[in-house]
Parts: sequence; C-alpha cells; structure tokens
Amino acid sequence: NKRTRIKDLLSSSTTGQETIVMGWVRTFRNNQFIALNDGSTNNNLQVVAELGLLDEATLKRITTGASLKVTGTVVPSLGKGQTVELKATTIEVLGDSDAEKYPLQPKKHSLEFLREIAHLRFRTNTFGAVFRIRHALAFAVHKFFNEKGFVYLHTPIITSSDAEGAGEMFRVTTLPFDNPPRKEDGSIDFSEDFFGKSTNLTVSGQLEGELGAMAFSEIYTFGPTFRAENSNTTRHLAEFWMIEPEMAFYDIEDNMNLAEEFIQYLIKYVMEHNADDLAFLDQRLAEEEKQKPQNERQEFGLLEKLKFVVDNQFERITYTEAIQILLDSPHYKKKKFKFDVKWGIDMQSEHERYLVEKHFKKPVIVTGYPAAIKAFYMRLNDGCEPGKETVAAMDILAPGIGEIVGGSQREERLEKLEARMKDMHIPAEEMSWYLDTRRYGTVPHAGFGLGFERMVQFVTGMTNIRDVIAFARTPKNCEF
Ligand code: 4AD
Ligand code: MG
Repeated sequence: NKRTRIKDLLSSSTTGQETIVMGWVRTFRNNQFIALNDGSTNNNLQVVAELGLLDEATLKRITTGASLKVTGTVVPSLGKGQTVELKATTIEVLGDSDAEKYPLQPKKHSLEFLREIAHLRFRTNTFGAVFRIRHALAFAVHKFFNEKGFVYLHTPIITSSDAEGAGEMFRVTTLPFDNPPRKEDGSIDFSEDFFGKSTNLTVSGQLEGELGAMAFSEIYTFGPTFRAENSNTTRHLAEFWMIEPEMAFYDIEDNMNLAEEFIQYLIKYVMEHNADDLAFLDQRLAEEEKQKPQNERQEFGLLEKLKFVVDNQFERITYTEAIQILLDSPHYKKKKFKFDVKWGIDMQSEHERYLVEKHFKKPVIVTGYPAAIKAFYMRLNDGCEPGKETVAAMDILAPGIGEIVGGSQREERLEKLEARMKDMHIPAEEMSWYLDTRRYGTVPHAGFGLGFERMVQFVTGMTNIRDVIAFARTPKNCEF
C-alpha cells in the first residue's frame, strides 16, 4: 500500500511525482473538483478530475461521504489556502454513499445534532480536530512521565474496593438477577458470585497505585474509571479516563509542583504539535462567542487562554481563604450563588468557577480542605482547631471547567489512618493489603488524579464533556 497521507502530501514542497491517496469525499464541485479527506488533517486535498477523465456513471458516484482511491500527479495549486493539489489519472470509487440519505451534509451541523449521530461525527472538522488533539494529549502524558522515570502501572478495572469511599460503583456480578442466592438474613450471598465476593468497576486506581509507589518510588496510572453518580452535567461521565501519578517521598508542595508542571507540559505539547487543529478550534470558538450577547462573551480566545496558562504560575490558596473570598464577593452579597457559602461546605461548581473565572482569572490550586468532606486516605493536617480538622488535599480548578485535578498527600501514619477509617466505617480487615504499605516501610507520599476528558475540554475549548470522548456514557445513555 503506497498510499500517501493527505497531511504529508499537503506539506510537501515537491511537485511532479505520481502518488496514490485514499479518503472520503467532502464536496464535489463542477464535476471536476473533489475535496478529499483522510482524517490526517482538516485540510482537504483538492483532487482535480479533468473533463473527460470519468464516465457519466462514475461521476454520479462521487458524492459526499463516498470513499475513493485516487492515483495522480502532485501539481502546484492556484487555489486559495493550498500549495499543491492532485491531478488525477485514475479515480476508483471504493464505497458509495447515497447522497440523499447521508446524514452529514457539507454544511455546519450543531453539536447536539452530531451527538445524535455520534457514530459518524468523527468525519467532521470539529471532531477531527478534537480527537487528534485527544490522541496527542494521551501520547504527551506517557512522554512526560517517561522522561521523569515514572513506571506506568496498570491497575485493575474490576476490583473489590471503593477507593473514594463514595459508594458510586457499578456492580460486577454473574449472579442471576431474578433470584440471587441469599443469606439467612435475606441479604445477597456474594460468596456464590464469580469472585466469591462483591465486586465493582474501579472508581480510581489510586490505592493500587500507592502499592506500586511503595516499591518503584514513582508510578502513574492512565486508564478508564467508572462512576455511577447520577449527575447529568457538561463535566461528568459515567466512564472517563484518569491519570493518577503516585509518588513516594513527595509532600503536598511537591505534589502541587508536579501537577502544575504536568498540565503546562500537556498544553505546550499540543501547541507545538497540533497548531492547525488548535487554530481551527480557536476560530470555531470565536464564532460561537459572536453568537452570544456581549456581556456573556469570554474575555480571551482559546489560544490566548492556553498561552496564558503555560506562561503564568497557578494561584495557590487555602480552602479557608477561598471561602473568605466567596463571602466577600459582590456575587455573594447580591445573593447570586444558588448554594450557601460557609466554612465546611463542599464547594459547588458555581463557587469554583467564580474563583477561577471572575476572581483570579487563572487556574487555582486550593489546599487544606475540611477533613469531613474528603476521602479517608488524605493526610490530617497537624495542629487544627477541634471541629475544624483539615487534610493535605489539593484540587486544581480551571477556568471554564472547575475541578480538573483532585489529589492529596496521603496519611502515612498507621494509627491515624486506622482511626480515620474507623470513623468513616471503612472495613479495615478487607483493606489489610492497603494498610501493609503503612506497616512495612511507610513513607510520606502523595499523588493526584487528572480527569483526562476535562483536560481535553480545557485544551479544545469544547463546553460539553460528551464531545471530547468517542463514546460517551452518561445516565440513560449507552449507545453502541
Ligand atoms: O477528585 P477525584 O474523585 O479523585 C480521585 O479519584 C483520587 N483517587 C485521585 C488521586 O488522588 N489519585 O477525581 C479526580 C479527577 C477530578 O478532579 C476530575 O477531573 C475527574 O477525575 N473526574 C471526572 N471526570 C469526568 N467525569 C466524572 N464523573 C469525574 N469524576 C472525577
Ligand atoms: Mg475531587
């Protein structure tokens, strides 16, 4: 297969050579000019079929969506925005596409419409750009950690623990639904289940990641995670991908530094390697903004925003300071928050977004959250006022997104961890494997989780998380 990818062909400066391209027709004008796309770039290749090259029957088969194999000569192009085009010598239709029925017309479709035909939406410019960038980000994740000597650890997808202790798990079972075996007290008897116990899809690879960090010093996971939280928002998926680095000998400060460096690295990578696709999305977003009333428009374009984030340090504040800023805000005084603000609350996305979008206008790292609203494994801060205990947690809030990273220094002191688990009714006997890390050679350690789709949203400027994952799983929606 001596096929040339359209992206490579368009960027070549030589002409006169014979070449083969394959792709799908975007448009066909004047029975002569075919805009061909093979997904390597949003820039279509202009294929010129000189009059007389094709018979009537073949001409009719060149329709939007049809697939072609074209042999031709690369020649300089007079067309706007392209330096070369392909002068066809043969054109073979590989697969027809009924123009009457094909859902993708050569015009702008709404994202809502494209979500309904999600199986075809990769073929549009917007999704072409988004998914090439998603790919680049995934590659950059591995590159970043590999350069730092981290070990990529594959943590399990089926597990018997609830890492976050939030009870938002999807059950995995082979027991019959209609009449499962029951114990004397009437509860389901999981000893007869496939694994001999109750199991679920993982909500986070962190706990297993900690086991790895206690041997390799630095590891990261990058895999699918599942949450049965019934939130139908533009930032929640039931199945999403998470990157979770875990580092021995790191404190909360080191953790924040790594997370900030990581996010900036990912953005820089895409700015360097996906400039065309970013420019396309920047333009797309600018057009979308123009539709909005003046006072609702974003201050910065996508590229400006990304450049700013790469060039400037993130703001760092404590939870207590964050609450104070909210209480002092004109927004609060005008009663514009839907949810109440006081020390102890789990900040709602309206609060987080106020902090990053209205107050600081940049990413913010919030530390020192109340222990009561955070997971059992987070390290208790020493010297807290009774009733106002805080943990060494850190969340990174991003403009337009809200929480993009959640992390913490871990509780490495066995007695404190056991006491906390007892308080939170987490069965220590089932987590003996986890507690062993604290029994044998425990060390200060820390880690965080970056929601991959939220990162893709941030970089592409897509407002709905359903548009940055190929096959979105959300409440009442599991197509394909
Ligand atoms: O804050 P979370 O729940 O933290 C953890 O799972 C920790 N175990 C991470 C760690 O310390 N290793 O989730 C981490 C991130 C969030 O900040 C968010 O970006 C993303 O995962 N996230 C979701 N993304 C899409 N849909 C959902 N339902 C998400 N829930 C969390
Ligand atoms: Mg969180």
